[in-house]
Order: sequence, then C-alpha cells, then structure tokens
Amino acid sequence: MLVLITGASGAIGRSLVDYYQARSHQVIAVVRGEDSSQNDDNSMSVTWVENCPPARYRELLSPMFQHQLPDAVFHCCGVLHNERHMPEKALKQFSAEQFVDNFQANCLSSMLLLQALEPFLNRQSKLSIMLLSAKVGSITDNYLGGWYSYRMSKAALNMAIKTVAIEWQRRFPKVVVNSVHPGTTDSALSKPFQLNIPQQKLASSDTTATRLAQLSQSLTPQQSGHLLYWDGSTIPF
Ligand SMILES: NC(=O)c1ccc[n+]([C@@H]2O[C@H](COP(=O)([O-])OP(=O)(O)OC[C@H]3O[C@@H](n4cnc5c(N)ncnc54)[C@H](OP(=O)(O)O)[C@@H]3O)[C@@H](O)[C@H]2O)c1
Repeated sequence: MLVLITGASGAIGRSLVDYYQARSHQVIAVVRGEDSSQNDDNSMSVTWVENCPPARYRELLSPMFQHQLPDAVFHCCGVLHNERHMPEKALKQFSAEQFVDNFQANCLSSMLLLQALEPFLNRQSKLSIMLLSAKVGSITDNYLGGWYSYRMSKAALNMAIKTVAIEWQRRFPKVVVNSVHPGTTDSALSKPFQLNIPQQKLASSDTTATRLAQLSQSLTPQQSGHLLYWDGSTIPF
C-alpha cells in the first residue's frame, strides 16, 4: 500500500507517517519546509518531500503520481493560530491577514492537492482521500460563535469537498473523498486551548492517527462527499 501524507511535520501528520511505517507500507511524507525530525528516520519505506508548500504540489508530486497513485491520502495541513494571530473572539478582532492565512492553510491547500491528483485518476482508480477539517467548520453545529477565520475556512473546505465529490462520483466512481474532524488531539494547534478539555477528551496524535487510518480503510465510495467524525459518523455541514 502507498500512502501520501501532506502536513507530515504536524502532530497528526507525523503520527500517520509512523503508523504506516510501522506496518511496512510505503509512505510519501510531504512537508512545506525542512523537517529536522526526519533525520533520525532512515527507513527505506518513507520518501520525504521537503520544501513542498501547497503551491508546489503539482510540480513536485505529479512525477510521483505518474509512477504510482497512492491508495490512501491524508491532508493534514491547517492553521488555527500563528505568531501573528490567535483565533478571533469577536468581530472587531477580525483581520484580512488572518482570514487569508486561514484560507490558505485550511482550504486552498486542499484544493491544490486535489488538482495535483486529478490528472492521474480514471474510472478504475480506487483511493481514499481524507482532508482534515474541523467540527467547528460545521455551520449547523455553530452554537458558540467566535473563531471567524478558522470556522469560515473549514466551512469553505467542507463545501469544496462536497463539490469535488459530486464531480468525481461521475468521473472517478471508486474514489472516496471526505473532510474529516480528527477529534481534539494534543498538538501545537490545540495547545493553547487544552486547559478546559477533560483529559479523556484529548487524544494523543498516535491515537488519532490510528483512528484515521482505520476510518480510511473502512470507507466506501457511497460515503464520499461528507464531513465525517473520526468514528465514521456524519457531522452536518
Ligand atoms: N489538533 C486538534 O485538536 C484538531 C482538531 C480539529 C481539526 N484539526 C485539524 O487537523 C489538521 C492537523 O492539525 P494538527 O493538530 O496536527 O496541527 P499541527 O501539529 O499544528 O500541524 C499543522 C500542519 O499544518 C502545516 N501548515 C500550517 N500552515 C500551513 C500552510 N499555510 N500551508 C501548508 N501547510 C501548513 C504545518 O506545517 P509546518 O510544520 O511547516 O508549520 C503542519 O504540518 C489541521 O487541519 C487541523 O485544523 C486538529
């Protein structure tokens, strides 16, 4: 089995690399910068693609897809806060810069990955693609407000996935593409918000990776085009 993992420098992405590597699968691990954590990783089964931001997916990944299409794809890129911004609590904190940062990482990156894959798909292609989204991107589930840019960018991602799934169901009927809420997971992204989360509700990235890998394995083409919870249940858009 060949597995493509983008955002492999993040907590969930890296744990997915470890999960598949431990089971002797071939992994393409994509990072947008240089990843020092891979230096202690001499495994032949992991091909690291560094300096590969989403804008370079087509250029750097196409030659690999030409050779072999992955059986499973996990897009683990995303941002909630960075050195410039914490998620907005109120409209007055909203800024164009934060909005663009969130849309680039949480939505545009997924579209560029799907576009890079598409030329290599055909009616027989059988693969599961999971793009990590978030429950807070559900419009129906928004009871608390706040986090404007993150919520909007994940809602846009969910719309993108639904739209791509409709197009691909006709052209590539065996491809499964979903956005997935991984569950609250211990990572740099969730770190500032962990205080109020009961310990049993905070999964380790290894636990989340196992859950996502099992979900990917279980999905059928009939389940394409949804926002899924890691246990496979559907979250309303
Ligand atoms: N952790 C949670 O509780 C939780 C809950 C719901 C949803 N999620 C989603 O799960 C995904 C993975 O999150 P995580 O918890 O593993 O976070 P993380 O450890 O902070 O990893 C984030 C990853 O996204 C990459 N990234 C950030 N900005 C990017 C950009 N502009 N373009 C491309 N890549 C970018 C990072 O790359 P660098 O290392 O180069 O910065 C890193 O690989 C995200 O989509 C997140 O929204 C997480």
